[in-house]
Amino acid sequence: MVRLVSSQELAQHNTQEDCWVIIHGKVYDLTKFLPEHPGGIKVITRWAGQDATPSFESIHPPDIVDHYLGPEVFIGEIDKSTLSVTKVESEEEKQRRAAHAKKPALDEMLNIFDFEGVAKQVLKPDAWAYYSSGADDEITLRENHNAFHRLWLRPRVMVNVTNIDMSTTFLGTKTSIPVYISATALGRLGHPEGEVVLTRASHSEGIIQMIPTLASCSFNEMINNRGRGQAQWFQLYVNKDRKVTEKLVRNAEEKGVKALFITVDAPQLGGSLFDR
Ligand code: HEM
Ligand SMILES: Cc1cc2nc3c(=O)[nH]c(=O)nc-3n(C[C@H](O)[C@H](O)[C@H](O)COP(=O)(O)O)c2cc1C
Repeated sequence: MVRLVSSQELAQHNTQEDCWVIIHGKVYDLTKFLPEHPGGIKVITRWAGQDATPSFESIHPPDIVDHYLGPEVFIGEIDKSTLSVTKVESEEEKQRRAAHAKKPALDEMLNIFDFEGVAKQVLKPDAWAYYSSGADDEITLRENHNAFHRLWLRPRVMVNVTNIDMSTTFLGTKTSIPVYISATALGRLGHPEGEVVLTRASHSEGIIQMIPTLASCSFNEMINNRGRGQAQWFQLYVNKDRKVTEKLVRNAEEKGVKALFITVDAPQLGGSLFDR
């Protein structure tokens, strides 16, 4: 029979040396896993002795637990009758809820800066930090931004513009406009459904989605939400354990992914605001 853990017992395991957390109603002892956690120790110890589910699920798909943790770290299920249910909404949460309620309509948004302004108000601070920040001194982020200012679109005038066709092909796949959705991890930080929203949007707009290795949805969710004839690419972080990588690649190929993009600058992670 599964052991029931009370919230009082859980609360005693609240240090880096003895770290239990709740994830989806189950209590895990993550003490030994902490130094191996690719996202670092601090993000987990912040929740030591508490329920880590809200943070966990905005970053990881549920099946990651079975992939990375052995059965020995499972302690039992949390005894829900011992959890206090009164959650007081903080002032910040109230402001975010109000900002959500008065979000402008999509057709009122003219440019990316408009989206940024709204996002800053409706996202939690860690989500905003992750989406808006670049690595280290953000020199590349600024330079990428400036690069777009050096590009000019030359309007064609005195031509028939009744039917405008901006479609082209990327790596042999048709796209309605010369834009694709690049790999961006941790989609659930921004929307409860995560990257699946981008799968649907790219289908309805006829563009290509690049699936990130570190999505907060599972790979299969993004594959299963693919529309008829929709093309998806896969971004790959190469794992030290090449067998893990081989499995990911073979699975992507089997599921009809059209191209593979290998991220080569991951071995040395740039520090970001998200980690502070
Ligand atoms: C409990 C089991 C957990 C497992 C098995 C797990 C597993 C992982 C893995 C495998 C990665 C990196 C993936 C890769 O490089 O291939 C990762 C990254 C990360 N994890 Fe976890 N994690 C767990 C819990 C948590 C919790 C509780 C939090 C936060 C509350 C968290 C936050 C993060 C963050 C912030 C990253 C870095 C993502 C990035 O920088 O792109 N994880 N985790
Ligand atoms: C929030 C965010 C998350 C990202 N996540 C990933 C990722 O998981 N894997 C990856 O290879 N690149 C990732 N990138 C890099 C983008 O795919 C893209 O290459 C980069 O942002 C440069 O394009 P840009 O100048 O249009 O932003 C991420 C970028 C951002 C802003």
